Amino acid sequence: MADAPIALTDVTPRPRHEHATRREYDAPYRWFIGAALSLALFGGFALALAVALAGAFEWDWGARPLQLSQAHGQLQLIGFGGLFTGGVAFRLMPRFSGHPLRLTPLVRFVIPLVGGSLILRALAEPASDGALRDAGLLVSAGLLVVGAGAFAAIVLRTIARPDTRAEATAYFFSLGSVGFFAASILNFALVVEVVNDSLQVAPTLKQSALVFVEQYGFTLFFICGIGTRAVPNFTGRPRPYTSTRVIAVALAAGVALFACGALWIAHQGVSGTAARAANAGLLLISASLISVAWLSGVFNPSADRVATASGAPFWFVRSAFAWMVFTAALLAWYGARGFADAALPEAHALDAARHTLALGVLTVMIMGMGMMILPEFAGRRLQHPNEDALVIVLVVVMNIAVVMRIWPSIEGIGWLGNTRYWPMVISGTLATVGLASFAAMFFQSYFEQRDPGWARPQNLPARRAARR
Ligand code: HEM
Repeated sequence: MADAPIALTDVTPRPRHEHATRREYDAPYRWFIGAALSLALFGGFALALAVALAGAFEWDWGARPLQLSQAHGQLQLIGFGGLFTGGVAFRLMPRFSGHPLRLTPLVRFVIPLVGGSLILRALAEPASDGALRDAGLLVSAGLLVVGAGAFAAIVLRTIARPDTRAEATAYFFSLGSVGFFAASILNFALVVEVVNDSLQVAPTLKQSALVFVEQYGFTLFFICGIGTRAVPNFTGRPRPYTSTRVIAVALAAGVALFACGALWIAHQGVSGTAARAANAGLLLISASLISVAWLSGVFNPSADRVATASGAPFWFVRSAFAWMVFTAALLAWYGARGFADAALPEAHALDAARHTLALGVLTVMIMGMGMMILPEFAGRRLQHPNEDALVIVLVVVMNIAVVMRIWPSIEGIGWLGNTRYWPMVISGTLATVGLASFAAMFFQSYFEQRDPGWARPQNLPARRAARR
């Protein structure tokens, strides 16, 4: 019994013919994770550091910091958050819904289309105005529409079915995929405006509405879908179907209200009614986030079903939900103030909420849930059993990175000098180190577990000895 084989998901690549039937199709989630981490580490986080350093040292880069920060936002939200959560969702959807993934021939096109679009945009946007830049921006926007369309089609055909067993997660994933497609259309329209009017960057308010839909209307839905489905398994909480569905719809309504209000003002000029509608959207989102955190059971568990070996990674999940509650508090405060004043929240207020959600919820949740549910990390707990201290250090590093990033934005107009960028430099450095460590652990385990012999019973004594 002591030498019984360990039940682990095999991570060795299968020969091609094993993917031949649809029933057996297993989404290439490792490619999605690899693409997401590469776009984040070599793109989004690198640009964040460049923009923060340019601000701190007051480098005279003209419009470039603005262009690079827009490219940074796209790489982080769509490239990192979208591809990571989307790839994991492709893997989880058949398990959640009881149906195999549909439209599987499209899956292989999602990474080249979305990744290609983002890389092209990051290269084209800072280039000097001309036909090449225009073509690059338009092709990039077109690729994103096709990529988002393919992504949404796969998700909707797989999970938006009357006989789905995915419960409320079907709502979150379906609405999130529609949000992604809507954002890609909005992005296309904005890029056409940039090209037609030879603008250096997309107009700020319209870009802010776009980024809002990408973040709250797409990646947040996938985080909530996984969070309300998988996290209650660890906290022993029930998964109430009706209330969770209502939350998904309320979240969608909140995103639509804010985006429409902001776009109305951007096109038609100042309007108290549109501003109030946008702020009502923020209040709805705030209430939805509080409800998701409550339903997850992280702060009110009924039972402790977290395995001892997952105790340390679960601190990432706790932190992510704590930041979710903090985001809700910020949105409630800014939304209520804006509603009373009949004005949109200031840019720094939106930035504070945006980065609390982007770094504190999205990035920290990706790291925590990744460590808890990905097969590579399940195997890693056997291969490297004494890593709890390292994981806790990473939890601390990421939480300090969040505080450093949002601190200057919360100070707002009270801190306008170049020194406001120094905490951002610290944040970018810490977050890069944290995410790079996560990536290194993931790929190290993937390559170690490709050795067909590593999970065999006869290798168990060696692993036990290593654990002592
Ligand atoms: C690691 C720490 C990070 C640093 C230091 C950082 C830095 C910055 C800076 C300096 C800006 C420009 C802000 C402004 O001009 O008001 C910005 C904008 C933005 N960031 Fe980050 N960021 C970080 C992480 C992230 C992450 C993880 C995400 C998403 C997952 C993200 C998404 C965005 C978005 C969407 C924008 C707005 C871009 C636009 O205006 O189009 N950031 N960030």
